[in-house]
Amino acid sequence: MTETAVDLSSVVERARADISRSASIDQLEQVRIRLLGKKGEITALLKSLGGMDPEERRTAGARINEAKDELLGAIENKRAKLEEQALAQQLASDAVDVTLPGRGQRIGGLHPVTRVRRRIEQIFRSAGFEIAEGPEIEDDWHNFEALNIPANHPARAMHDTFYFPDGRLLRTHTSPVQVRVMERQKPPVRVIVPGRVYRCDSDMTHTPMFHQVEGLVVDEGISFANLKAILHSFMKALFEKDVKMRLRPSYFPFTEPSAEVDISCVSCGGSGCRVCKNTGWVEVAGCGVVHPNVLRAVNIDTERYTGYAFGMGIDRLTMLRYNVTDIRMYFENDLRFLRQFA
Ligand code: DAH
Repeated sequence: MTETAVDLSSVVERARADISRSASIDQLEQVRIRLLGKKGEITALLKSLGGMDPEERRTAGARINEAKDELLGAIENKRAKLEEQALAQQLASDAVDVTLPGRGQRIGGLHPVTRVRRRIEQIFRSAGFEIAEGPEIEDDWHNFEALNIPANHPARAMHDTFYFPDGRLLRTHTSPVQVRVMERQKPPVRVIVPGRVYRCDSDMTHTPMFHQVEGLVVDEGISFANLKAILHSFMKALFEKDVKMRLRPSYFPFTEPSAEVDISCVSCGGSGCRVCKNTGWVEVAGCGVVHPNVLRAVNIDTERYTGYAFGMGIDRLTMLRYNVTDIRMYFENDLRFLRQFA
């Protein structure tokens, strides 16, 4: 065995071990330079070919080049592996968990009007009422005509209606849903209808959009006494107080007789304050016995069935419950206001 052959096999053996031991691309590069750089071990062996005779040079040259190719291949393989590892490591450490919650988050809360609406629904549900809904874009028939408010009726002027060019309108109250419910369901009917309503009106106690809840009961033998009883129980349940209630004669086209509902002021208990304008009473609803014309409009036999209806402003009840004096606060979405209810 020649000198070169011995050198070569020990160089190759050591190189293989060093390559496979390299733990980083830097280390691997050091190994490559030690072997194949300008002053590298393999490079030196190649240089030594010059001093050999032709026969020896041919066999030694072939073996050295073979070793060089093998080692270059091994280095490239190792480099690919190390790069892959480095990439995997980087991906693992840079990974962002987009499902983690952001910082400084605050839990939201239900809007006070929503809380009171849900409370109203729950109280009436426990009294056997179902919850009904109707469209906010209404036609003249449901919003007015079928409720015994014909064209030119003075009551129309009180409604400040938003009209669409085609004659449809934004419902001015939840009463049209009375008609819709009776169109699809024969008595007994026992529903409440919470929802948004619209009137062209805006000041401290009026917003162009507000919320009402309608009540309708139609069955055999329904009287004004039933209406009074259900409303009073409801008021006591809603305010969690032994509130007094009184009915004042009033007028609505869709009820006869009609009344306005007052409760003893929940703010001062009846002694007089700003909320009740020193009267001790606050008005919270309108109500009455369903007018026969309304039942006739939906083909219900007025000899057999009677009913009562009521309508109240949810925003107003919410103001009373939380002692808020400006209704517009509810719709400005100022978080400093809303957070107080969370
Ligand atoms: N719809 C009436 C309004 O918006 C409120 C109302 C009064 C509803 C009497 C009723 C009722 O069902 O019987 O002013």
